[in-house]
Amino acid sequence: MSISRQQLVQSRLPAQLSPLDEAEAFAPSNIALCKYWGKRDAELNLPINNSLSVSLGHLGTRTRLQRSPDGRDRVWLNGIEQDSSGDFAAKLLAFIELFRAGRVLPVHVHTENNIPTAAGLASSASGFAALTLALDKWLQLALEPTVLSAFARLGSGSACRSLFDGFVEWQDGIHDDGMDSHGVPLEARWPGLQIGLVKVATGEKAVGSRAGMQRTLETAHLYQSWPLQAAADLEKLHRAIETRDFALLGQTAEQNALSMHATMIASWPPLLYWQPESVAAMQRVWQLREQGLALYFTMDAGPNLKLLFEARDRAAVEQAFAGLEVVAPFGD
Ligand code: ADP
Ligand code: DP6
Ligand code: CO
Repeated sequence: MSISRQQLVQSRLPAQLSPLDEAEAFAPSNIALCKYWGKRDAELNLPINNSLSVSLGHLGTRTRLQRSPDGRDRVWLNGIEQDSSGDFAAKLLAFIELFRAGRVLPVHVHTENNIPTAAGLASSASGFAALTLALDKWLQLALEPTVLSAFARLGSGSACRSLFDGFVEWQDGIHDDGMDSHGVPLEARWPGLQIGLVKVATGEKAVGSRAGMQRTLETAHLYQSWPLQAAADLEKLHRAIETRDFALLGQTAEQNALSMHATMIASWPPLLYWQPESVAAMQRVWQLREQGLALYFTMDAGPNLKLLFEARDRAAVEQAFAGLEVVAPFGD
């Protein structure tokens, strides 16, 4: 049996906690070029495959923790107080409890997402990374970045990659306690690499990533091919990044995303995160590519597309996709 999450966190904490009055932290969201899809251990959020992402700069989550002035745990998301027994607050407070472990330390949590929440734009990644960083500051833990990354993973797998900027690989690890399963920042940078968010729908998805990947694992025979696809893609992405081969990067990311979606569609009940507008946007990308534009896309568990292109093509891409929000993770 695997070690419990709480034991794991407590084993790295001092016996006595010294909370500040308040503390605040920001973490970027991240978009995977090689996706994490499937867990080998659901308690510790340990993945079946390595994944590789790029962090989204200023897009993400800012979280402030305050020693509770009214003796109660309370949670606000984007300025709106959340029902303390609702899913959002319950999941967030359960994560804080891994650190408090029964000590009486009521808290007010103010968290702001500048990306849509639970819409396939990786709010769980920036959300749990910012919360982990804020806990580290609030409780004055001064933990190593890789330990913080492994802890953030306990909140949401993809969060372990949001502890770092730029390209980040999440290595699956081999240890039972998962402490070697964390994000590792790549040294390579790619000035001019651009990511465009095509927001098809920003409402909360019907099936969250967690339930979606579990369903795929349990019901899709096609899933058997996924670890092989991911391993091959990871190698190609490393090569693309090392040699600044944009076509290889884009093609690999797009094929990886569509392969993941194929496993979702092959699940039962079927899992299709796409809307008609998602398909229309994909077809627009393919059409523009045929006309010579170096434009690719990736998609997570949601209807929205993330376009991949280089700075020199920005004007052409913005002309084709009205209202595109563009991020340059390494600067223009
Ligand atoms: P997404 O594609 O946005 O990552 P998920 O289904 O993976 O969607 O995760 C959504 C969940 O992430 C929310 O239901 C909530 O539990 C958590 N989450 C989102 N934003 C935050 C935040 N700022 N702080 C803590 N948890 C968050
Ligand atoms: C499709 O990290 O949101 O975005 O670990 O259950 O919280 P949990 O899932 P989550 O899954 C992300 C899935 C993905 C691919 C990716 O980001 O790698
Ligand atoms: Co998520």
